[in-house]
Formats: sequence, structure tokens, C-alpha cells
Amino acid sequence: MPKTILDYDTVALDDGDSSLIIIDQTKLPNDLVMLHLRTQKEIYDAIYLLEVRGAPAIGVAAAYGIYLAAKGIDTDDYDEFATQFDAAKDYLASSRPTAVNLTWALNRMRDVVTANKTESVAHIKELLLAESRKIQQEDIDTCRMIGENGLTLLHKGDGIITHCNAGQLATSKYGTATAPMYLGQKRDYGFHIYCDETRPLLQGARLTSYELMSAGLDVTLMCDGMAASIMKRGLAQAVITGCDRVAANGDAANKIGTMPLAIAAKHFGVPFYICAPSSTIDMKTATGDDIVIEERKPSEVTDMWYEHPMAPKGIKVFNPAFDVTDASLITAIITEKGVIYPPFDKSIKKIMG
Ligand code: MRU
Repeated sequence: MPKTILDYDTVALDDGDSSLIIIDQTKLPNDLVMLHLRTQKEIYDAIYLLEVRGAPAIGVAAAYGIYLAAKGIDTDDYDEFATQFDAAKDYLASSRPTAVNLTWALNRMRDVVTANKTESVAHIKELLLAESRKIQQEDIDTCRMIGENGLTLLHKGDGIITHCNAGQLATSKYGTATAPMYLGQKRDYGFHIYCDETRPLLQGARLTSYELMSAGLDVTLMCDGMAASIMKRGLAQAVITGCDRVAANGDAANKIGTMPLAIAAKHFGVPFYICAPSSTIDMKTATGDDIVIEERKPSEVTDMWYEHPMAPKGIKVFNPAFDVTDASLITAIITEKGVIYPPFDKSIKKIMG
């Protein structure tokens, strides 16, 4: 069997544990370029520029990134080590604000440093390596379980709309929103997937349609504004997306364009599902109003992907990277621990212990 994009790791450490290897997702689907990142600046830039992207993949990249930073700290003194570790952690955490997995993973790595105060710095570095690998393995296991749980909501022959890329390229394996699709394909569900292109960075066109097609699924690409027409024609039995942060009340931030999909789904009576690893649920964020939304450069809307600018020079541009879907528009949240239903403030609290 020829290799496909799914045979490559989205995020990995090299054999000597001295660099972070990622697929440069800005070059897909045309070129497969693997980047070897060593410095903190390289890792920060890769996250900021979306060379590695998707909430869980950002978390894993940050875990490996902070391990590499820790490995390079040249001191045997715990306090000095912890000070330098925190500086690197704060730097990486500032690369993107919305996906909670970034700070979640960095905080987990910090907990290792805190819990092992009495150990040698050399041993703490070994424990950090083990923790970063554990975070990645958990991501794989989580996505597999989201696939199993998500599949219970679907039927043979369903048409499914998805937005952005919550696929394998956004995680360590399987993806979140795509996990039920991959699993259903193995079990002959015969799904028809409709991918929003996902303006302005085209994650749906460049990444989701590419990885699903590579896996042999039946995929149709459409512009974001076409999803409601698919629903009106009765071609979609479900909408499934990923998310970057779920607030304690169930409001969910995901790629810009998710909220209008949810509004249309409600109008047409199509169930709207959010896939959320528990690492994406942020109990410290009370509601969607408390989620910081990343604003990105105007050139992503006006110039990127085009040979010539496609808007008048100097035009004002609105370019938030994410929107927040109100909990009242979400039919269910699919987590690795099970499928949860409204009222989400109660069901989330229960599942998060
Ligand atoms: O800006 P991106 O490409 O990182 O945005 C990604 C998304 O919005 C995904 O849907 C989300 O991170 C979930 S990935 C499993």
C-alpha cells in the first residue's frame, strides 16, 4: 500500500529526543514538508503560524516543546531550573490564546516539576520526557474513544458536515470529529462527508478533505456558506466539529464559522455535535463570554492563497480565528468518557468529576 498523509506523525520527537518533528501543515496538500524544530522560537513560531495546529496537536507540541526547553537548561539547582522552566512555559503559552490544550499540557508538565522538588534536575528532565510521551499516548486513546462514542450517534449512509480540521492532522491520531468517520468507514457505514472549506485558512479544503480522501472516505468539499443548502436538501443527518475550549456551561469555541453552522443545523433540525477531549473542557472558564478569541492578520483574508490581493488595498478586515457556539445550539458533546447532553452545566460537572 502506498503511504498516505495518515502514515506520518503530526507531532513527534526525533529518535534522540532532541528535536520536535512536525508536518508543516501550511504546505499541505501540495507538499509534504517535515520540520525539525529545536529552539523555543522555532516551536513558538510553528504554533503561531499554524504549521502545527488543532487544539490537541498544539498541546502535544507544547509538551514536547517544554521538554526540549527543560533539557537545554544548564543548571543543577532546582530553583534556577524552575525559574527558567517557567519563562519558557510562559513564552510557549503566549503563542495562541484560544485552545486550552496548550496551557493544559504546559501546566501538566509544570506539575511534574513541582511534584519532584526533591529529585535531581537530571531526573526531573527524565520525568518530563515520560510525561510528554504520556500526554501524546492519552491523546491517541482519547480520540479512539471519541470515535467509538461518536459512532453510537450515527447511522449507515449518513451525510455528515464537518468544519475546519478536527482530523488526525489536528491530533496525534484519528482526530476528534473525524474519529467516528474513520471508525465508521472500517465498519462499512458508508458515510458521505461534506467539508466546509473553512475560510480564511482553508483547513477544511487543504487538510480535512485531503486526509479523509486519502483514507478512502466519500468526501465533498463546499464553501462555508453552502452548508445550509446541504441541510435544506436533506443531505446531512449530522454536523460534527471539534472545539478549542468548552466552558463550564457548555458554550464551545471552535474555528470561525462553527456558530453559523450550529444556527443553521438548529433551523433545519439536524443534530449538532461537538467532539471534546476532556482536556479541552475548561472548568475555570464559566461561559463562552470568558473565552479569549484570537484575532489574526488581515492579510489572511485579503492576500493569502491568492496570486494577487483579492480586496482593495487598505480595506478594513474582521478576522477572528474562532467563534463561540452557544450551549443551547449543541445537541450533545462527545467526549472520551461518554456522550453528554444538556443541561451541560450539570453533565459537564459530572463527567469532569
Ligand atoms: O486555527 P486552527 O486550525 O488551530 O483551528 C482548529 C480548530 O478549530 C479545530 O476544530 C479544533 O482545534 C479541534 S481539533 C481536534
